Amino acid sequence: MQGDDVESLIKAIIDELTESSARGIAAAVSRLAGNGTIASGQRLPTVRRVAVELGVSPTTVNEAWQQLGYEGTIESRGRLGTFVLPAARVGGPRRYRRVTQRADSFRLDLSTGTPDPTLLPDLRRALSRIGRDDLTSSYLDRPVLPELEQRIRDLLPFDPQALTVVDGALDALDRIATQIVRLGDRVLVENPTFPPLLDLLHQLGAELIPLEIDESGIVAESLAVALRSRPKALFIQPRAHNPTGASMTKARCGALAKLLKAAAVIVVEDDHSGAISSAPDVSLARSLPDQTLHITSFSKSHGPDLRLAAVAGPAALIDALTDRRTLGPGWSSRILQAVLADLLADRVAVGEVAAARDEYARRRRMMSKALDDVGVGYSVGDGINMWIETPHEQETLVSLAAAGVGASPGSPFIIAADGTDHIRLTVGLVADGFEGLAAQLSKAIPAADDRHARRRGR
Ligand SMILES: Cc1ncc(COP(=O)(O)O)c(C=O)c1O
Repeated sequence: MQGDDVESLIKAIIDELTESSARGIAAAVSRLAGNGTIASGQRLPTVRRVAVELGVSPTTVNEAWQQLGYEGTIESRGRLGTFVLPAARVGGPRRYRRVTQRADSFRLDLSTGTPDPTLLPDLRRALSRIGRDDLTSSYLDRPVLPELEQRIRDLLPFDPQALTVVDGALDALDRIATQIVRLGDRVLVENPTFPPLLDLLHQLGAELIPLEIDESGIVAESLAVALRSRPKALFIQPRAHNPTGASMTKARCGALAKLLKAAAVIVVEDDHSGAISSAPDVSLARSLPDQTLHITSFSKSHGPDLRLAAVAGPAALIDALTDRRTLGPGWSSRILQAVLADLLADRVAVGEVAAARDEYARRRRMMSKALDDVGVGYSVGDGINMWIETPHEQETLVSLAAAGVGASPGSPFIIAADGTDHIRLTVGLVADGFEGLAAQLSKAIPAADDRHARRRGR
């Protein structure tokens, strides 16, 4: 970049600045990129230079750049510098893209976070039973088939005031977040957590506050401290936490409920693994019925392509969500709802889902034992994923890729780094060959020091 360009760009930022906090600097650069004063593709001056010119610390500028990076306004290209992105790429799945994009095709792709297709119930029986009565052409029918609503109510760990069905847990998170989170709201999230949730909340302009979790769920002390910031909402995965596998125990649920009762925080529980989880479906809704929304996904248990999840909770929140949805898709396909209702009623399908849950548990046990044998550190509890420690995420991913194994980088899941790198492995897809995979992992994790031998979780 020419010296004159740097001068004029910095002058533009100074003129635009209303406050010299990280947020203020990010907002100024965002406005300048939005109105074309800073062209897309332009390289930004170095952090050090901006810090000197604005009279702030490099940490403040770094924070501003980080914020703009999350929102998709700028992108760091390593040693080449930091560049302004075209407006069309603002927002979107910044973190999620890093999990889902893969350059290679792998012999064994464990980066996906998806269930094993061979463990899903056979849909053909249910499909053959869909009759003319299910093929509604009305825009005016209730959005949820009554027989499906009853089946889901029978499964839930609490008796909700209201319930609706949407197109999967991520659709539920999107609809709920859009409804309750406003620019600048503080929102509590587990650290680490599901990257699309972080993308979504960043895009809405929320200020994210990370909560520590251990194998029993959110750490109560961490929640107590975070509640002092008067957050608007708490997003939590009550069991089979992605990526760590942690599940909230009853005791922990009680401790968290006590803290949350006094705070007017909306709790959003994302039970994304539903019936394939081995842990019980523990919910804060039992103690906090007026402030908890509970999402139940059927993707992992019955198939991601059914695109169905239930949202249950206070009538005022569910009704607002359903009302807003009449201005969009209106309802989730009642044909698919009829398929799901049939699967939930069918003894054979119920048996297939229970067998899948047990098989995932067996796979986790086998993988844990194989990793213990080679001294690789991991956390696993429930579900289809394992969270594996490494001193160097990128090196481990490259080494695994060279051996034909795909894994997901850990960094998109993390909001507050603690100096330990991770990768996420969808071990639910591994039916055999555990020792071989563990040996590959052990080779891919560089320079074992004490940390790797330390097993976290259970
Ligand atoms: C934590 C979490 N929430 C939501 C989802 C998305 O689920 P669905 O397929 O129901 O949209 C996933 C998928 O893996 C997940 O891990």
